[in-house]
Amino acid sequence: MKAAHENWGSRLGFILATAGSAIGLGNIWKFPYITGENGGAAFIIIYLGIVFTIGLSVMLAEIAIGRHAQTDAISAFRKIGKPGWTFVGVLGVVTAVIILSFYSVVAGWCIAYVVKSAGGAFSGMDAEAIGGAFGSFIGSPVAPIVYHGIFASLTMAVVIGGVSGGIEKASKFLMPMLFVILIALVARSVTLPGAARGLEFFLAPDFSKISAHTVMAALGQAFFSLSLGMAILLTFGSYVDKQTNLGKSAVQIAFLDTLVAILAGLAILPAVFAFGMDPAAGPGLTFVTLPTVFNSMPGGYFFAIIFFVLLTIAALTSSVSVLEPVVAFFTNMGLSRKTATIGSGVIIFLLGIPSSLSVGIWSDIHFIKEQGFLDSASWLTDKLLLPIGGLLICIFAGWIIAPVMAREVAGDGGPGVLTKAWLFILRFVAPVAIFLILLSGLEIVAF
Ligand code: PHE
Repeated sequence: MKAAHENWGSRLGFILATAGSAIGLGNIWKFPYITGENGGAAFIIIYLGIVFTIGLSVMLAEIAIGRHAQTDAISAFRKIGKPGWTFVGVLGVVTAVIILSFYSVVAGWCIAYVVKSAGGAFSGMDAEAIGGAFGSFIGSPVAPIVYHGIFASLTMAVVIGGVSGGIEKASKFLMPMLFVILIALVARSVTLPGAARGLEFFLAPDFSKISAHTVMAALGQAFFSLSLGMAILLTFGSYVDKQTNLGKSAVQIAFLDTLVAILAGLAILPAVFAFGMDPAAGPGLTFVTLPTVFNSMPGGYFFAIIFFVLLTIAALTSSVSVLEPVVAFFTNMGLSRKTATIGSGVIIFLLGIPSSLSVGIWSDIHFIKEQGFLDSASWLTDKLLLPIGGLLICIFAGWIIAPVMAREVAGDGGPGVLTKAWLFILRFVAPVAIFLILLSGLEIVAF
């Protein structure tokens, strides 16, 4: 017999676990470099606009579907009586496998940086030397794959052992610590000589930099960072009790996630300018800038180690949430939890190998839009699969089961203004916006 469906210990537990999924490499590694590539402040304004309209609405919809169905993303649609929609859960699983494959590679770099920082590998180096060391490390054929394997194994170990005990308790203590370290880094970064230009880049918008690509990058980043579009939050929502106010919770989660992204941007981009680096340098930005900042701050040696440990843990709380629905899918098909986890973990590890090689010896092999494997996998998920997943969630919650959703979110008092506004965004604004952004970003139509 199946055990009764579990619940979160408390509302705070739910908020922190969901924030643990949302806050990860997407905020600290990806957000600063995507902001850098897309022109700074104007991108941030668009990003904020998308997070607090479309992002928040899709997040609330996923959580509400989950709480209503009281089961995982694969079974949820059947249980609600719409088995034809099960493919949304399946699409989420495919997306999860692709995301995790490259996510684990980058998280492996974080583990390597713990080791390197502890060994004093960057001490006394300037930005250029650190950049060179980063390039040769990620470009080497074996070491990054070993670290990717270590991270993938950690993720599997946590998923086999169950999320609730260890990692949930640990993140209650570790996430606030990450926050404190980030604030210390921001303080150092913005007071570096020459940081003002970076602050200007980050805070003073230049709207001539905005194009359909910018908007699409912001949408993809919003979905990635909030862990949307792959039905992860649906599973998390299924553990929420009926008393919890879903709208308020979603606002708090989105706020925390965005706060960490902005802090990471403020820690990284001013330093990029202070050290004369290129803000559009791409995925290496964090790994080159921060060790340079650590070198210039008192106690930097210890800060560096603690920071990369925390970043690895933040990545782990996210990667666990990505692996979980994949495992749920295979256990649903009759595999044991252990077999399902190891089986999918190995597939993800193998799929990560070309991602890792693509920033080194395979850098000449191109897939989508002249990009290597890692960038192609990231493009495919950010620009296509996550928005499509989000679009389907909007249609499902806003059109197929809207009355049920309204009840789920509004509670006993009946739908108020906010619930109605949310349903309006879900039914009209979000699907149309996502659809148009998809088309224009794919260059099917031009605006
Ligand atoms: N949101 C996580 C991050 O920002 C990554 C993630 C993406 C997690 C998609 C789940 C789903 O790092």
